[in-house]
Amino acid sequence: MQVYLDNNATTMCDPQVVEAMQPFFSEMYGNPNSLHKFGTAPHPALSHAIDQVYKGLNASDNDDIVFTSCATESNNWVLQSVFNDNIVNGDKNHIVTTEVEHPSVLSTCKWLEEQGVKVTYLPVNDQGVVEAHTVKSFITEKTALVSIMWASNETGMINPIKEIGEICKEKGVRFHSDAVQAVGKIPVDLQDVHVDFISFSAHKFHGPKGIGALYIKDSQDLTPLLHGGEQMGGRRSGTLNVPYIVGMGKAIELATTNIEEKMASIRAKRDHLEDEIVKLSDTFVVGNRENRTPNTILISIKGVEGEGMLWDLNNGQIGASTGSACASADLEANTVMLAIGADNELAHTGIRLSLSRFTTDEEVEYTIQHFKDAVFRLRNISSSFAKQAPTKGGEVQECELH
Ligand SMILES: Cc1ncc(COP(=O)(O)O)c(C=O)c1O
Repeated sequence: MQVYLDNNATTMCDPQVVEAMQPFFSEMYGNPNSLHKFGTAPHPALSHAIDQVYKGLNASDNDDIVFTSCATESNNWVLQSVFNDNIVNGDKNHIVTTEVEHPSVLSTCKWLEEQGVKVTYLPVNDQGVVEAHTVKSFITEKTALVSIMWASNETGMINPIKEIGEICKEKGVRFHSDAVQAVGKIPVDLQDVHVDFISFSAHKFHGPKGIGALYIKDSQDLTPLLHGGEQMGGRRSGTLNVPYIVGMGKAIELATTNIEEKMASIRAKRDHLEDEIVKLSDTFVVGNRENRTPNTILISIKGVEGEGMLWDLNNGQIGASTGSACASADLEANTVMLAIGADNELAHTGIRLSLSRFTTDEEVEYTIQHFKDAVFRLRNISSSFAKQAPTKGGEVQECELH
């Protein structure tokens, strides 16, 4: 049996999505900006996909949703354009974000700091959540943007986006949320929360890779990141990726239809998996599960290094993820776990398991058994073996959290 439990990194493309995309590769392949019939043929499908995305997020007709190549582009677009619009050409010089954002936000903020922008990286509490009153206390007259993720890719913890949105509205500050781990996993109702921009990406909810979007409330101005052929009303140039837009529309429709039922089914499997693996001694799951995306578990197992565990799970045909980002011979501790106050040892032991609506009960049972056996094995062999296990030719392999 093979078990894929890395759905926060990416998901399988739903076969219904693949089927919906198919005609737009080699039948209706015209450029939708061309005036001939090849160009106009995909128009109805494009309009339908746009409707599906608006419906999936309950966006209003006054809002704009612009397709991008990925959420990394969407995040860069907002941060860099707010910098141009409000900082270079305005009198604001401050961005508020958190210590635990995805690298596509954090690295852009670091780059903006090099351009002279002041960035406040807010801490999270012991649940991995940023508190709304903390956000409020750091907004100043100079704040151009607040950028806070909706839900964490690492822990699944959900931030109080509605409260933060109200604070930003009251203070007159633009609010962006990286909603990559929220869209398709939990209800995202854009008429219920005040948020100026959200970034999201189809491959996290069983759509294709290479297509993302940026939601722009009330179609407000935002300097484009990509200039060129004026596609998407000049907001984002580049020939429209028709098959992928169609795929994103279908994927969001499938993910958000009866989302509460889908969440309940995934949550039941996740909770069972979690209940069983925490029976092992000295385990620690990050965050209260009522406030977590229903598919995610970030668990630390004392004395079992994340990479060793990942290796053992991989040998058992289970794809999971470590809690640490390691890109060098120095295995780094998981920064999110450090941010919530875990000690260095614990922060080296995180394993993230992320389920999807395709995860079966049999796969969960298989994982429980293999997980318990792996912990038993790794606790019974020397810690040096556990440290060397994920290496190849003496070099530590690269791995990253997505
Ligand atoms: C929270 C979060 N933001 C942004 C991204 C980047 O998404 P993409 O792969 O579409 O660039 C990811 C996924 O890797 C993510 O989990």
